[in-house]
Amino acid sequence: MKKACVIGWPITYSRSPLIHGYWLKKYGIDGVYSKEAVAPDQVAAFLKGMRAAGIAGCNVTVPHKEAALALADVCDSVAEAAGAANTLWLEGGRLYATNTDVYGYMTYLGTKALHWTRPDAAVSVLGAGGAARAIVYGFLDAGVAEVRLFNRTRERAEALARHFGRRVRVLGWEQRQGYSEDVAVLVNTTTIGMKGEGQLDFDFQRFDPATVVSDIVYVPLKTQFLADAEAAGLTTVDGLGMLLHQAVPGFEKWFGARPEVTPELYDLIASDIQGA
Ligand code: ATR
Repeated sequence: MKKACVIGWPITYSRSPLIHGYWLKKYGIDGVYSKEAVAPDQVAAFLKGMRAAGIAGCNVTVPHKEAALALADVCDSVAEAAGAANTLWLEGGRLYATNTDVYGYMTYLGTKALHWTRPDAAVSVLGAGGAARAIVYGFLDAGVAEVRLFNRTRERAEALARHFGRRVRVLGWEQRQGYSEDVAVLVNTTTIGMKGEGQLDFDFQRFDPATVVSDIVYVPLKTQFLADAEAAGLTTVDGLGMLLHQAVPGFEKWFGARPEVTPELYDLIASDIQGA
């Protein structure tokens, strides 16, 4: 029987077991996907012990994504660029790492907003944490001309811009409305709006009707930020789709079948979120 898991600290609220469990059942695969609470000082030992425990690989969540990158034997360019790994697997006795958040975000954006990109496109990214770093990389890799970066703590945005180079432009947090009204995509990677806490305060009536508005927060599924954008007639992209799509490459590595993100899976996780 094939085994995989997600490690984090805490891990109680991870929905990854529900996602992978759905696919294991759907494809009739003899496998298990569990959640493991691993304390920060136990990550190295856990990863070393995976082979002996018969575990094919794992997802890595907060706060271990940077440690996972450092501990893996081989990291791909996406994980290096994102500065974090969320998907690990064993191959020929070596531990491999990638970051599928980039894939998850860009794939779902492409699915929900087919024509989001245009020549000379600029995009706006709110936040400068780990999630922002992965998404900025995704946009640069997709060829956007300019990423406008806004963060409450400006120095963090400047550090990200230094890492990625001239296509990333740092603006003040209070400039987020004026400098986003004409962008191809505006994405929230901050925790504002999570569980209804905080407000991003955008006036979407002033936006270009072609701007796509996306949020990586998925609790609630429809954040105030997305509801406001939708009310102004803009296309919106929620955070749950990113979570579902980022799970695809890991499942394929560990269990050998490329799974599909179906409306049924979306509804299953959505109802779990709404029932929580
Ligand atoms: P992650 O790695 O998941 O992106 P993080 O590193 O904790 O998480 O980043 C959280 C982001 O939300 C940061 O950009 C943070 O801004 P600061 O760098 O100034 O801390 C942002 N954030 C959280 N609460 C905020 C608030 N009330 N107002 C503005 N930004 C906020």
